[in-house]
Amino acid sequence: MSDGNTRILGIETSCDETAASVVENGKKILSNVVVSQIDIFAEYGGVIPEVAARSHLEAIQPVINKALKDAGCTWNDIDAIAVTHAPGLLGSLLIGTLTARTLAILHNKPLYAVHHLKSHIYANWLETETEPEFPLLSLVVSGGHTQILYMPRHDEFEIIGTTHDDAIGECFDKVAKILGLPYPGGPAIAKAAKNGDPNKYKLPHPKVENLDFSFSGLKTAVLRAVQKELNLPISHPSHDLKSHLTKKQVADFAASFEKTAVDILSEKLALAREKYPETKSLVIAGGVSANKALREKLNDAFFPDPKLSGDNGAMVAAAAYYEIKAGVAETDPYKLNIYPRISIEAK
Ligand code: KG4
Ligand code: ZN
Repeated sequence: MSDGNTRILGIETSCDETAASVVENGKKILSNVVVSQIDIFAEYGGVIPEVAARSHLEAIQPVINKALKDAGCTWNDIDAIAVTHAPGLLGSLLIGTLTARTLAILHNKPLYAVHHLKSHIYANWLETETEPEFPLLSLVVSGGHTQILYMPRHDEFEIIGTTHDDAIGECFDKVAKILGLPYPGGPAIAKAAKNGDPNKYKLPHPKVENLDFSFSGLKTAVLRAVQKELNLPISHPSHDLKSHLTKKQVADFAASFEKTAVDILSEKLALAREKYPETKSLVIAGGVSANKALREKLNDAFFPDPKLSGDNGAMVAAAAYYEIKAGVAETDPYKLNIYPRISIEAK
């Protein structure tokens, strides 16, 4: 490690952002380049995996080159390469991992294959003055996951709560679709909710045992409430409701849904804190952690800088830094099975 500092190039391509970043000592961001495909998928109302993979292929090299340039680094200054290997869209992950593996071999750098949710959690260690204290509880709220984790120390995780069906981010995206708001639904709902009455529509809290979640019922509850409000039968197709809704109704539904979602998360966290009274910090992570109402409700929790809530390469580099510190072995760049959980063994 060159000058006593560890500089890691983090690469992220798990969904619809092509991202690369150089981070020093798991904390200081020297560069952070994110090319989002949101504009492409806003037109379709969701991510098309094949299009996402092809967009990553186009963007990945320029994004990495820019990350190095912005950081004022050459390959000599980089100590390791970190890349998201799972979970995510297969084609998208393949572009990132194949690129990272090739660069690791070409430039003779150690490679770290990092789990995406771990990276989201480690966004909370970036550019902070006060670090979360262990043992801690973490709530991961993204497009694909809703989990509560117990972390006794760095790089150790126990899943103590998870969703039985939809993830919370997915629920924001689907409710937005019903209301005729654009993709991604989370920011669109938050924006519409600003002008709405959060107490206008009463939506149910699902009864799920322990620290687990369920969000598919909430999505259906919004659908039924919209149909009822419009005096339409439950057979009326969900894609046609938006044209009947006024701006005020959309705002009230957005606000009522957002409040219910935030309350559900906060109730489960209160239960988690009761069950794990020894925990010293609460750390919120993932795309939905950008949500302002959630930030206001959980005002004593750690949240990443809103710019680092969504997918980015800096969090991947930070997670790899703590893997190195915890003594995790580097990934062999010649091995094929660094991406998803499929391991093909020769018979
Ligand atoms: O972590 P992320 O960027 O990608 C995944 O790993 O899934 O999370 C994306 C999710 C999307 O469902 C998006 O609607 C949601 O995060 N999201 C939000 C907000 N910003 C993004 N949800 C609620 N409020 C927001 N401000
Ligand atoms: Zn993510």
